[in-house]
Amino acid sequence: MKDTFYVTTPIYYINSEPHIGSAYTTIVADVVARYKRLDGYDVFFLTGTDEHGQKVLQAAEARNMSPQAFCDELAGKFQKLWKELKITNNQFVRTTDEIHMNTVQHFIKKMKENGDIYKGQYEGWYCVPCETFWTEEDIGKEKICPSCGREVKRVKEENYFFRLSKYNDALLKLFRENPNFVQPDFRRNEMLKILEGGLRDLSITRTSFKWGVPMPDDPEHVIYVWVDALINYISAIGYPHDMEKFEKYWPADVHLIGKEINRFHSLIWPAMLMSAGLPLPKQVYAHGWLTVNGQKISKSLGNAIDPREFVKTYGNDAVRYYLLKDIQFGRDGDFSEENLITRINADLANDLGNLLHRTQAMIKKFNDDIIPEPFENDTVDKGLISLAKKTVTAYKEYMDKLKFTQALETIWELVKYGNKYIDLTEPWKLGKLPDKKERLNTVLYNLAEVLRLVSLMIAPIMPDTANEIFKRIGKQAVENFETLEWGRLEAGLSIVHGSPLFPRIDLKEHRWVSRVSEESASEKAEIEETANLIEIRDFAQVELRIGKILEAEKIKKSKKLLKLQIDLGDLGRRQIVAGIAQHYEPEKLIGLKVVVVTNLKPARLMDEESKGMLLAAKDGQKLTVLTVHRDVEPGAKIS
Ligand code: MSP
Repeated sequence: MKDTFYVTTPIYYINSEPHIGSAYTTIVADVVARYKRLDGYDVFFLTGTDEHGQKVLQAAEARNMSPQAFCDELAGKFQKLWKELKITNNQFVRTTDEIHMNTVQHFIKKMKENGDIYKGQYEGWYCVPCETFWTEEDIGKEKICPSCGREVKRVKEENYFFRLSKYNDALLKLFRENPNFVQPDFRRNEMLKILEGGLRDLSITRTSFKWGVPMPDDPEHVIYVWVDALINYISAIGYPHDMEKFEKYWPADVHLIGKEINRFHSLIWPAMLMSAGLPLPKQVYAHGWLTVNGQKISKSLGNAIDPREFVKTYGNDAVRYYLLKDIQFGRDGDFSEENLITRINADLANDLGNLLHRTQAMIKKFNDDIIPEPFENDTVDKGLISLAKKTVTAYKEYMDKLKFTQALETIWELVKYGNKYIDLTEPWKLGKLPDKKERLNTVLYNLAEVLRLVSLMIAPIMPDTANEIFKRIGKQAVENFETLEWGRLEAGLSIVHGSPLFPRIDLKEHRWVSRVSEESASEKAEIEETANLIEIRDFAQVELRIGKILEAEKIKKSKKLLKLQIDLGDLGRRQIVAGIAQHYEPEKLIGLKVVVVTNLKPARLMDEESKGMLLAAKDGQKLTVLTVHRDVEPGAKIS
C-alpha cells in the first residue's frame, strides 16, 4: 500500500472573491500535492471555504441576501477559480456542510467531557474582519486591530471558554521537542515567545448573532468561527463519521497557511486536538505575504489582483513558475509584472525554450525525428550525466523542505548546462562527418534525456509544460518519479514538433495587465520622461469610495473641524474629522454622498479619531466637498 500524504490550505473567508494573494497558498499547496503524487504517495489535498461568522453575515446583509444563498454563490466562485487555475484538490470543504457542522459539535462535546469548557463573562475587543479577540495590550491606544489595522469593537457577552491556558506547558514541550512543528524557524520563534508569555483562555462562543454552529445543549450560543473553521481539517477526512478514512490520512503532514493566522494553527489548533484526545498535525508552515509596493495584497486595501487576468495574458504555468521561483517561500515578496515578464523571457523562452527547440531541430535534421540509441559516453557526456544525477538528488531534497526557489534554481543549472553541452559537442559539425554518427547519436540522446528529466522535475510547478515536453519527445504524458533517473528514456521514439512553448514577450507590443492597458512602449517611454506624472498603479494605491454622511457635529474648541459619521457600505461606518466647519453648517451635510479616501492611516485631531479624508475643491476662499450627480450606493469604489 502507498504511503499517504495530507496537505491542506486554510479555508477561505467567503466574504469576498479570491485574489492572487489568497490564491498563493492554494497554488503552493497544489505544487506540493502534485509533487507528492509523482513521488508515489496517496495524497489528500484539501481546500474549502470558511462560511460562518459575523463578517460573512454582514457581507450577505450588504448584498440583501440570505447568508446561505450568499455563501452558495461565493463558494461556487472559489471552486470555479480553482478549476481555472488547475488546482488538484481532492475535496472542497464548506463549513456550512451538515457533516462538518456535526463534527464541530462532536468535537466540542469531547472538549467538554475533558473538562476544558466553562461558562464565563467575556468583556473585551473584537475585530470583525479578522474574527479575532484582542487584549487591551494588543490593540494599543489607537484601538486598532494589530493584524489588519482596522477598528476593533468592544464586546461584552456571556460566553463559553476553552481552557487554553491548561495546554501552555504541553505546547511548550511540543515546540521544544519538535523544532519542525512550526516552520520557518523565525515563525516558530514568534509562537514560542507567545507561549513563554503564557496563553489565556479563549472565548469560543458568541451570542450576538446566529450565523454559526450552535453550541451543543445551548443553542443560544454559536461556536466561534475560528474554532468551527479549524475543525474542517478533520471533518473533511471523515472524523468521526468515517474513522477508517480519518485514520488513513490524519495526522496531516502539513498545514500550509499565511503568517497572520499562525497563532490559530500553531497554538490554538494543537491545544484543541490535545483536548479532544487526537493526534497533532506533523507540521504547520506559515508563509509570507504577496505584496504590491510592500503592502499586503488584500481586497480591503484595494490592491487585489485577479489571478485570472495574469493567467489569461501569461499562461497558468508561467504565473506558477514566477510565484514559486521569485517569491522565496516563507518570506514576503512583491508581486511584480515586470519580474514575471523577465522570468518568462530569460528562464522560460530563452533557457528552456532554446534547449527544447535546438534539441528537436537537431534530432529532426540528423536522425529523421527519431531519438537515437546512445553509444559510449565521453568525458563531456559524463560531466552532463553527473550534473543531472546531482540535480535530481538536490531537487528532491529542496522540494521535501518546501524550498521551491532553490529547487528551480537547481533545475535551471541543468537546463543551462544542456545548452552549453550543445555548444561544447557541436552536433552540427558531427553531422557532417559520417564516421561520427555514433558520437552524434549519443549527444542527441543525452539532450533528449536532459529534457525528459527537466520536464519531470518541473511537472509539479508547470504541469502543462511538462506534459507538452513529454509529447514533443515522443511520450504520452509525464510519468512518475520512478523514472526520475538518468537513462530511462527509450530510444526509437518519434519526436513531435510544435510552436514555441513560451514565445518571448516583446515589450514594444505588450499589453500590461496591471498598467494602462493600451499604452504602447514608446508612449510609455515618453510618459516616463515627464517627471511629475505618476503611473496608474501609483494612483491605484489611493482607495476612493463614495460615503454617505449620517451625522455631523462641531468639535468643541475648534473653529475649523467637523466630526462626521460616514456610511461606507461594506467597509462599515467610520468617523472622519474634516476641516470644513467654516464652509458648511453640520446639518446641511446630512445625507450628502461624498468622496472619501478610505485607506489613509488613522489620525487623531483635537482628541477625535479620524479614519479617512473627504475630498474637496478649493477656489480661493471657497471650499466645496466633492459629491456625485447620480445616486450611488455608499461604499461604491471610485476608479
Ligand atoms: N478563514 C481563515 C482561515 C481559516 S483556516 C482554519 C482565513 N481566510 S483568508 O481568506 O483570509 O485567508 C486565506 C489564506 O490566504 C491565508 O493563508 C492567508 O494568509 C492567505 N492570503 C491572503 N492574502 C494574502 C497575501 N496577500 N499574500 C499571501 N497570502 C495571503 O484566514
